[in-house]
Amino acid sequence: MLERPRRNRRTASIRAFICETHLGPEHLVLPAFVHEKQESHAIESMPGHSRLSVEAIVELAVQSAALGVMGMALFPAISDGKKNSHGTEGENPQGLLQETIRAIKKKVPSMVLFTDVALDPYSSDGHDGVVIDGEIDNDETVPILARMAVAQAQAGSDYVSPSDMMDGRILAIREALDTAGFPQVGILSYSVKYASAFYGPFRDALDSAPKSGDKKTYQMDPGNIREALREIGLDESEGADFLMVKPGLPYGDVIHFVKENSSLPVAAYHVSGEYAMLKAAAEKGWIDYDSCLLESLTCLRRAGADIIFTYGALEAARLLRAQAS
Ligand code: PBG
Repeated sequence: MLERPRRNRRTASIRAFICETHLGPEHLVLPAFVHEKQESHAIESMPGHSRLSVEAIVELAVQSAALGVMGMALFPAISDGKKNSHGTEGENPQGLLQETIRAIKKKVPSMVLFTDVALDPYSSDGHDGVVIDGEIDNDETVPILARMAVAQAQAGSDYVSPSDMMDGRILAIREALDTAGFPQVGILSYSVKYASAFYGPFRDALDSAPKSGDKKTYQMDPGNIREALREIGLDESEGADFLMVKPGLPYGDVIHFVKENSSLPVAAYHVSGEYAMLKAAAEKGWIDYDSCLLESLTCLRRAGADIIFTYGALEAARLLRAQAS
């Protein structure tokens, strides 16, 4: 035999020389949920995650920074009384998300904050846009998203992150931010977001499931990939700074495709259902959570993700630190 690939796998040091994919805390973003109450409320389908008070989420930001995870994605759980058809609470400068942004930035200024722009946390219909006669009205929604983005920028968001999949929203948000004096605030666009059943636990976390219908008129069909080209082309031309593919692991080919077809950095979202599957199987003793988490995140990096949104960010950072020492 002339070729023996195993020679290059013989020792840990040799394997380190030929390692093709690196995963570190600097690649991770921690999503977290905030609510108006003082006490934490555990999210049953997402073990280890809770709806937190503003104070507790600031504490989480401190822990996160200590582990080298310098990005957080923030999602507010709003009380039903504040929800309406147009999600106007999202524009409130004193609203929960805005208050949270200011509180985290005060304590940990270097934390990079990605803030969700979509109507669903604030919508009495549980949709990402305004529902009119049973349809999600694109053009009625876009100006609201732009105003939400400005409110978040004013509070100190680093990247407003539209996850709504309305057409034309990136340009509208870019123009609104620039006009309001926030040219430095970036846009992470959820460009290629699928109508996925893997978001179930997230909707438990925010109590934001659609009251009727589904999200298939705005989120993409899981069987499609050529359509991704169209979405990323539009978002690039409209001024996006980051492109997101969501969910993560089942869409590794899409992450690769986006990476090959754009010069913008790519984010992958290892979503709530992916996290819940790992936790549930580990709870049954069927898989080893720690190894499966690190393997999942490594594979997302290999597929082409520059950064990964994952509920396992702090666990992964701790494991990586232990491996390094
Ligand atoms: C909604 C939004 C969703 C997620 C992030 N932003 C859910 C949805 O589209 O219904 C899901 C994230 C996850 O499952 O972890 N704007």
